[in-house]
Amino acid sequence: MLIGVPAEIKNSENRVALTPAGVAELVKNGHQVLIQKGAGSGSGFEDSEYLSVGASLGNSIQEVYDRAEMILKVKEPIELEYNLVRKNQLVFTYFHFASSQALTEAMVKSGAVCIAYETVEASDGSLPLLIPMSEVAGRMAVQQGAKYLEKPLKGKGVLLGGVPGTPRGKVLILGGGIVGTQAAKMAAGLGADVTIMDIDLQRLRYLADIMPANVTTMMSSEHNIAQSIQSADLVIGAVLIPGAKAPRLIRKEMLKSMKPGTVLVDVAVDQGGCIETCRPTTHEEPTFIIDDIVHYCVANMPGAVPYTSTIALTNATLPYVIQLANKGWETACRENVGLSKGLNVVNGEIVHGAVADAFEPQLA
Ligand SMILES: NC(=O)c1ccc[n+]([C@@H]2O[C@H](COP(=O)([O-])OP(=O)(O)OC[C@H]3O[C@@H](n4cnc5c(N)ncnc54)[C@H](O)[C@@H]3O)[C@@H](O)[C@H]2O)c1
Repeated sequence: MLIGVPAEIKNSENRVALTPAGVAELVKNGHQVLIQKGAGSGSGFEDSEYLSVGASLGNSIQEVYDRAEMILKVKEPIELEYNLVRKNQLVFTYFHFASSQALTEAMVKSGAVCIAYETVEASDGSLPLLIPMSEVAGRMAVQQGAKYLEKPLKGKGVLLGGVPGTPRGKVLILGGGIVGTQAAKMAAGLGADVTIMDIDLQRLRYLADIMPANVTTMMSSEHNIAQSIQSADLVIGAVLIPGAKAPRLIRKEMLKSMKPGTVLVDVAVDQGGCIETCRPTTHEEPTFIIDDIVHYCVANMPGAVPYTSTIALTNATLPYVIQLANKGWETACRENVGLSKGLNVVNGEIVHGAVADAFEPQLA
């Protein structure tokens, strides 16, 4: 199969859908890979590296879309790409259809087969192509929090790990899923005094077993949160209720009980945020201050570390890409139920329940 990788043209997107290592695997499986010139440079992968593992280079985005049987991307096609997608072409990327009627209509009209990373499922019901980005965001949350705790950046002036003879910095993590677990590991590794809260007691038992001694687990409740934020230096919001807006765990009036310079990193901002005063920010201007409390609420945190994010994403997508390329999408989806959950739009029809519920009346 001829697999095409266009450069990402969405604003500030530096990731690419395939690393040179991924190309090598596809070539080993007998496929051809066409990479748009310069597509990997934002992630630190130069054209010469792709050529050395057997890829060929496309001169333009048009050429890649025209020639490829399968298009591999990171972000959903933007308007400029709508007319490039062809009938029967397989497009494998993050789509998030429910948030864009224009995109959904364009893909229905194109007659392409659209498999969305975000709805592919593993056998235990988890979402294997969302996990890597949560892992990146969780680890980054501590790195960013530590930075904004510095006085010149308006933080409290606390070093998270402290030094001998000083108290450790206190980190409170709300939500002990993928983001929360990775954040706890990083904060604990720095030597901070870490508390992780969740409403799932099973999850807390698991975390208590695997985390080092400087991590305390605690049931998440209004009372416990109100108590803990008074002494926390860094609070990380990492909750998720699948399919729903994030619950508001820290309300505006609660900021008054925190010490000036406390840093809030609301990773759940992409689901509305679990801190009432959070609103989405960008890497250009990541923070704002309310009541002397520093808020960091970047909605696409992994975008700041495209080298790591690209490798993490490719590690997760590649096994599915190989199945799709080796067997064709129909056989691959028949044999792998989890992959078939990724089918969202097929040959002009919406085939995913949630997307259909969002749009079918308008598109009928
Ligand atoms: N900003 C970004 O760049 C970025 C990147 C990746 C993920 N995210 C977001 O981070 C959030 C967390 O993702 P995840 O992959 O860790 O989800 P997850 O499902 O693995 O974990 C969520 C956890 O929150 C817990 N929870 C639910 N309600 C709670 C409450 N009231 N108090 C405490 N815990 C509660 C759940 O029990 C679960 O353990 C999601 O909103 C996700 O979209 C943001």
